[in-house]
Amino acid sequence: MKKIVIVAGTNRSGSRSSFVASCIHKIYEELGANPELLDLANLPVDIFRPDIYENKPPSLQPWLESVLSSNGLVVVVPEYNGSFPGALKYFIDLLPFPESFEHKPVCFVGIASGGWGALRAVEHLQGVFGYRYAHIFPRRVFLPQISHSIDENGSLKPDLFARLKDQAQGFLEFIQKIQS
Ligand SMILES: Cc1cc2nc3c(=O)[nH]c(=O)nc-3n(C[C@H](O)[C@H](O)[C@H](O)COP(=O)(O)O)c2cc1C
Repeated sequence: MKKIVIVAGTNRSGSRSSFVASCIHKIYEELGANPELLDLANLPVDIFRPDIYENKPPSLQPWLESVLSSNGLVVVVPEYNGSFPGALKYFIDLLPFPESFEHKPVCFVGIASGGWGALRAVEHLQGVFGYRYAHIFPRRVFLPQISHSIDENGSLKPDLFARLKDQAQGFLEFIQKIQS
């Protein structure tokens, strides 16, 4: 069973990224994978200190192990100021390299209030993962005007859910090909 780590790519509490990441978690469960959600809003607060790069606190260890043990990563990234959130870059910078991302299949979902659905954020992030030799899954999903994409019952609209499911199916096949 493939372990898929889904990263909700902001530490903003109550973020829509977190909601979308939980929808994606459900999809991977339904597809028979073993998903795990890492919501950056739950990052331990003691990581924000200058000596963190040399001395990783025990509270961070489970986060690092989750990424290292995953077969694939799904990054749900909101657009903040025309790029991806600083909290996400901080998290990436705390992960051991090269082993966290080298040859790791990575898939992207962009979400934004604006009309481009975090295209800029995803493309900037692809540059980072490409630099780290990740295997980038080319089928990206962009969710623009996200506040209009969640209905009055708090559910993601069915057409968007279907796009995320298509992507997830394709991503599992991509991982299978790379890791068989
Ligand atoms: C600091 C910050 C900067 C943002 N910058 C942008 C932006 O550049 N473009 C955009 O479309 N939306 C922007 N937004 C709105 C987010 O896209 C919106 O909050 C959306 O719900 C996704 O982010 P969330 O996961 O934090 O909810 C910004 C939001 C925050 C908190």
